[in-house]
Amino acid sequence: MSTIRAPRFADTAGVYRVCFETGFTPERIAEGRPSPELLGQVWAGPYLAFAPEWCRVVVDTHGVAGYLLGVPSTGAFERWAATSWWPPLRAEHRIDDPALSPADRETAALLVTPPASPPALLGAFPAHLHIDFLDRLRGRGFARTLIDDLVERLRSAGVPGVHLGVGRDNTNAIGLYTHLGFAELQRDDGTVWMGRPTTS
Ligand SMILES: CC(C)(COP(=O)(O)OP(=O)(O)OC[C@H]1O[C@@H](n2cnc3c(N)ncnc32)[C@H](O)[C@@H]1OP(=O)(O)O)[C@@H](O)C(=O)NCCC(=O)NCCS
Repeated sequence: MSTIRAPRFADTAGVYRVCFETGFTPERIAEGRPSPELLGQVWAGPYLAFAPEWCRVVVDTHGVAGYLLGVPSTGAFERWAATSWWPPLRAEHRIDDPALSPADRETAALLVTPPASPPALLGAFPAHLHIDFLDRLRGRGFARTLIDDLVERLRSAGVPGVHLGVGRDNTNAIGLYTHLGFAELQRDDGTVWMGRPTTS
């Protein structure tokens, strides 16, 4: 049985594991044994710390199998992270450390220039989300359930829209998001930015 619930502090390692396993291909891992934590510290940890009540994990007998991480106000989240989340991590993981694997070097660069949404999107689509599932959870309807639930909670809170960034090569996720009511808003180098109003 799989249960959907808000994350607890004790779920952090499980969330980071899902982030690692969905974020790196086996080839990338074989290339240099990336840290099991650093990717999660960039892409998952700040959401669990800033707004756990907006996030959801899907847990089964083997642990955390997937998550949706979200914030209602991307601007507030990015301002908080700039002062409270990135500085201590930046001090700990220096990109010039020769011991870093190639993958971790790329992740550590994000501590210097943290992930950020295009400011132009934040008026109509102030919220944003990330969603990742291990293989065993995919294709069972959980993405629709989690995204529709987030959209409904945002609508109730008066937030007009939610956006996300997806790799332009991730055609599966782009197709799925389109099916779930997201439309392309803009593109930059490697990312397609998509948005869904909460009112339609
Ligand atoms: C993206 C991801 C979270 C989707 O989860 P999922 O379990 O496959 O999604 P669901 O089973 O809930 O599918 C939701 C709907 O999208 C549809 N769908 C799935 N793939 C689709 C595709 N390529 N194109 C169009 N629709 C698609 C499903 O049929 C389903 O439709 P329905 O609700 O009308 O029946 C999951 O595949 C994943 O973790 N992938 C790897 C990591 C990743 O790419 N994350 C996104 C990074 S931006």
